[in-house]
Amino acid sequence: MITTPIESAGRQRVLVDQGWRFMRYQDSADYGNIDEPDTLYYDKRPIVEGYNDAVVADTRAAITNQEVEAGGLKSWILPTANKFIKDPANHYKKPQGTPSPGRNFPFVQADFNDSHWQLIDLPHDWAITKDFYKGDNVPVGGGMGRLPIQGVAWYRKKINIPITDKGKVIFLDMDGAMSYAEVWLNGHLVGGWPYGYSSFRLDLTPFANPGGVNQLAIRIDNPPNSSRWYPGAGIYRDVWLVKADPIHIDQYGSYVTTSNISKKSADIRLSINIRNQSKRASEVEVLSTLYRLSPDGKIAGKSIAKFPVKRLRVVKGAVAQATTQITLKNPRLWQPLPFDGEDAHSRYEIVTNVYNEEAILIDSYTTKFGIRKIDYNPNKGLFVNDRHIRIQGVNQHHDLGALGAAFNRSAAKRQLQILKEMGCNAIRFAHNPPDPALLDLTDQMGFMVIDEINDCWQKGKTPLDFHLIFDDWYEADLRSFIRRDRNHPSIIQWSFGNEVGEQYTENQGAALANKLHDIVHQEDPSRPASASMNYAKPLMPFPKEMDVINLNYQGEGIRDAPAYAGLKGIHTAPLYDSFHHEFPDKMIVSSESASTLSTRGTYIFPVTKYSSAPASDSAGGDPVHKWVSDYGLYTAAFGASPDKVFKAQDEHPFVAGEFVWSGFDYLGEPTPYYQARSSYSGLIDLAGFKKDRYYLYQARWRPDFPMAHIVPSWTLPDRTGKITPVHVFSSGDEAELFINGKSQGKRSKTRYTYRFRWDSVVYEPGTIKVVTYKKGKIWATDVLQTAGAPAKLQLKSNTDTIYAHSKELAFITLNVLDQNGYPITDADNLITFSITGANHSAGHIVATDNGNPADLNSFSSHSRKAFSGKALCIIGAANSQTANKIIPVQIKASAQGLKEATLTIYVAP
Ligand code: GAL
Repeated sequence: MITTPIESAGRQRVLVDQGWRFMRYQDSADYGNIDEPDTLYYDKRPIVEGYNDAVVADTRAAITNQEVEAGGLKSWILPTANKFIKDPANHYKKPQGTPSPGRNFPFVQADFNDSHWQLIDLPHDWAITKDFYKGDNVPVGGGMGRLPIQGVAWYRKKINIPITDKGKVIFLDMDGAMSYAEVWLNGHLVGGWPYGYSSFRLDLTPFANPGGVNQLAIRIDNPPNSSRWYPGAGIYRDVWLVKADPIHIDQYGSYVTTSNISKKSADIRLSINIRNQSKRASEVEVLSTLYRLSPDGKIAGKSIAKFPVKRLRVVKGAVAQATTQITLKNPRLWQPLPFDGEDAHSRYEIVTNVYNEEAILIDSYTTKFGIRKIDYNPNKGLFVNDRHIRIQGVNQHHDLGALGAAFNRSAAKRQLQILKEMGCNAIRFAHNPPDPALLDLTDQMGFMVIDEINDCWQKGKTPLDFHLIFDDWYEADLRSFIRRDRNHPSIIQWSFGNEVGEQYTENQGAALANKLHDIVHQEDPSRPASASMNYAKPLMPFPKEMDVINLNYQGEGIRDAPAYAGLKGIHTAPLYDSFHHEFPDKMIVSSESASTLSTRGTYIFPVTKYSSAPASDSAGGDPVHKWVSDYGLYTAAFGASPDKVFKAQDEHPFVAGEFVWSGFDYLGEPTPYYQARSSYSGLIDLAGFKKDRYYLYQARWRPDFPMAHIVPSWTLPDRTGKITPVHVFSSGDEAELFINGKSQGKRSKTRYTYRFRWDSVVYEPGTIKVVTYKKGKIWATDVLQTAGAPAKLQLKSNTDTIYAHSKELAFITLNVLDQNGYPITDADNLITFSITGANHSAGHIVATDNGNPADLNSFSSHSRKAFSGKALCIIGAANSQTANKIIPVQIKASAQGLKEATLTIYVAP
């Protein structure tokens, strides 16, 4: 076990990620590959038969719970929620007089021999390395990513609680477990949490055995048909052991708000919650000190201010609050992108020390935060620190492509870096709380965030999603979510739901929205709260409950352009004006826009004459390969091309901006080809390679960055002599295209056009070049050449050194090149990756991918076909424990008939 105390003085917070034993019934020969041989389930569930998951995303959420016989451990688990249920009258009571369930079950016993179970480290996603389900009628279809996420599994670990911990309180903090986690310590059921995206704490103290054996056993039960995307499976985030004095700062026990912010000064108000789990009331003294943080999140220099000391009495079994305030002179403000550089995203840290009656330091707790002022202007959009900032955002799901749901900071950081380069400055975490470390990254890198809790309330979208537990858990889920995240400067808005079925139920749905909205404000009055609407109209009761109008697709209109006529489903005229008219005091933002679909580097002809068209087998789609053309014009049935969205935004300057659906492709929801495994809507594919559409956004979002990008590729052997439209994405305002030196004419951007189009170009192999201009001066060029036959491979890494202690990964891109080193954009050679040389055991191949949504070769395979000329190999350090020097590791890629490539990266401790 790693023991990394990151906070000391009375408190220890230790990561317990290493050395767990894992068993999933369906994979285990011992248990006869049965689905569920134990009866320790949370609750009975409805039986689902014949459910087809290929459902258009804007289908009305209307599934309500079918009647099932009650049962299971639910009544023992529910009390875990109590801490986040405001009214004590609504607290759940633990069943009395009955022994806690499962205490005789073998897996919860310390002496159970689990040595034949799989040895794993957390974060762990049990499904991601497995084979994809192929074809129809499989347990998990395209909607949830075709991976075996379903079923019951157990995790076991003996944890270290030495005799010196006697008298302390001991908590298990789980950042996320998918799903229905139930936790036993030393044979006692401690509690659990059903919603797989929530972080939660369990109090192990009553069952801990300091100095003795302490056996943890965690049961996870992940239902199929429970999500509209890949949820991951298992304990996919960090787990921590927190040891503290019985009188300590509570979980999420600090809350910082800032006000009266100017360049000259800012008021900082700090509330600290002290919990007393000791046997008697006590006086404590609370002392908080302010520090500045360096850009990488470390305390920089001496303290810069002290908060007034607070003395308070905490009654046994209660929580008491100490609130103090200071005025800070010349605060360094947290600024979002595009402001960048050393001081742009300035943050502070408060160190709070708690002293007992004997003046002994009993707890020390740190709180990071940032100072920024946000105005949500209904007529002009968002202002941060008095400067107008257009929201140039994307939606992101929680998976990390070939790594699945298992969180990895370096993988998340890579995603953010690629997004930043595009000019993106905001993320909506769709549709669930992210890993806490991801919010630390958005703070640090300057992204603004909509933090969102869920995709459904009482009305489900899939038969076994969280509508089944909504009534019992919504308050605890929502309060704990906001308390966890509310100190992050990057969060500009809370979202308490996405496209929920309650939009359709008039006053009833609005009443529930009102209840959720109020809970959000009780926990954090400092930010607006909203739920995203793809159906609710201005005159309906639902939007009245929102602080900000978050529209999904409705602003630019749904199924509203000529190419969409006749499609079934929601039809909406562009609604920005009518929402603005009805809610003149509320800011409007497009919380989901576009849903344009494409497969990187595939071009399907003819190309639509429209500027936005629904993708289908006959328009933009290739049902054989399951590709959608990368021209960036074809959309989901309810979607709109970037061009259509940009126009709608520019025509309505009061709109604060947009969050594109989606930044990256994600696992599951492979509209329009559900035989595939991952989505088509990203501006960046699942492997992290940019699609052509990425550059259309870069052109708009970074107008001062000289760039030009030609679509399609110019290696299209079948197109010779045929009409092959050429589109150019550029931040310039004029462009001239040349094919083999011959001008194809000059084009200018006119009002509401966002790309340069030459739609009647006849393809001939050779060189295609675009020269773009801005205000009459040459601005940027792009040149493509027709490539020859595949000849060699090339490897490039996003980093030359990976640090084992932080589980850093290297993302290595493979390119297939011709004799002259020119990339072959349609190459699909089978590549084999390996680690070679004397130090081969220092690194390992974690996963491979190529970004093709229809590639059903397992992510754990070391061979992978290139797709549109590229493949990805992810490398990690083999053993973070033993590496204590810097070791060079060689990665090799080979393919039949091609010159192989090798690359060295360094593994550092
Ligand atoms: C939206 C939905 C998203 C996603 C998207 C697909 O309606 O909110 O979760 O399904 O469509 O394009």
